[in-house]
Amino acid sequence: MTNSTTQTYDAIILGAGAAGLFCAAEAGRRGKRVLLLDHADRIGKKILISGGGRANFTNLHTRPENFLSENPHFAKSALAAFRPADIIALVEKHQIPYHEKTLGQLFCTRSAQDLVKLLADECAAAHVTILTNTRITAISRPDNFRVDTAPVGAGPAVTFTAPALVVATGGLSIPKMGATGFGHEIATQFGLNLVATRPALVPLVFSPEDAANWCDLSGLSAEVIAQANPQAAPKSSSRSTRNRPATFREKLLITHRGLSGPAILQASSYWHPGQPITLDLAPGQTVTAPLLTPNARRDWPALAATLRPLLPARFADRWLEVHPPEAFTNAALARFEHSLHAWTVTPAGTEGYAKAEVTAGGVDTAELDARTMQSRTVPGLYFIGEVVDVTGWLGGYNFQWAWASAHQAGRAI
Ligand code: FDA
Repeated sequence: MTNSTTQTYDAIILGAGAAGLFCAAEAGRRGKRVLLLDHADRIGKKILISGGGRANFTNLHTRPENFLSENPHFAKSALAAFRPADIIALVEKHQIPYHEKTLGQLFCTRSAQDLVKLLADECAAAHVTILTNTRITAISRPDNFRVDTAPVGAGPAVTFTAPALVVATGGLSIPKMGATGFGHEIATQFGLNLVATRPALVPLVFSPEDAANWCDLSGLSAEVIAQANPQAAPKSSSRSTRNRPATFREKLLITHRGLSGPAILQASSYWHPGQPITLDLAPGQTVTAPLLTPNARRDWPALAATLRPLLPARFADRWLEVHPPEAFTNAALARFEHSLHAWTVTPAGTEGYAKAEVTAGGVDTAELDARTMQSRTVPGLYFIGEVVDVTGWLGGYNFQWAWASAHQAGRAI
């Protein structure tokens, strides 16, 4: 039923990102009349910049253990109901070339634009109405949900109503791409609890002392094992994943302000202010072994010669300046060896939401039914994608969560 200012649908979805688009197509395919609203000037903007412009759209090895949440079990049913093979089948149906880069990470071979087109085509086939450049001015629930909108720029205000409202407005990461805390505000408006948000998959910033030691080496990288120190994690509820040690053997990159690279981004999701992270700079190696053989030279040049092949030469030399062995005895060399495998850095902070790939925390999963993503207390209200307190590791897991959670809601509304 339509009049000049009020239009009624079966479902209104807020946010035309990965989760919103996928949910809209799923619900539309099932015969629902779906409206998808976004304040941005085009759909799927974050998809376009993802994966260096090639969208790492899933990970072949997706398991619930690859996600952080106050409730580590919550994501299980969604991830089981919609698997990497399901999104791969859709990508293949649309004849989009893709490839595995590393560690099960699947990327579009041409461009992330292929993935946005896939989602747009699926929505079009499912007769989804998409309105971009649309500002949401108020949400209420007199009986059905009521969404008041105004266009960005000139134009008439329009009110939409529906028995189902799906919030897919994402997290706080990259505000310049249109990210807002709107989804969290809606949750609060309807009395749902939030888990405190924080930037995740984010570069870390050195303390002034570490910055003075290392930042001039910006651009150097090395393979390390990174771990956000679990012993030092704050006490939290027993269902939390915060305290579980997670280690990542990947590249570390020194930046002009601190540390980045996949190993650090992964560890950052587990990091809390004031905690150290631990870095093994020579995974699986006994660097000092050549100095411990009979008749071996035990001096500075010999030690530098063993370290240089393992780390970039300038990094190795700096390490020796900052962490010199106090002697060349067996005990001193053992301490030097240990320091290399357990470089403890206490970051001053992170680079924040401006540089974070995702937002950890969000709508408390205790508020949602894991099979439908519907609020347990507000019938017809759904939350999907990054706005929910489920955060994936780096490597395609966050898109897999977007697809899987959207699929749950799309089938339920
Ligand atoms: P998403 O943020 O995609 O969409 C939310 C939508 O809501 C946006 O279109 C926004 O405009 C809209 N919106 C927000 N506030 C609104 C409001 N007030 N009114 C109306 N609309 C509003 N993940 C991965 O798995 N593989 C990868 O390769 C990458 N790469 C990557 C690179 C970079 C630079 C970033 C920042 C992030 C990634 N990610 C990623 C993470 C991934 O992009 C992210 O987890 C998903 O896009 C989340 O999908 P959602 O649909 O939940 O939110």
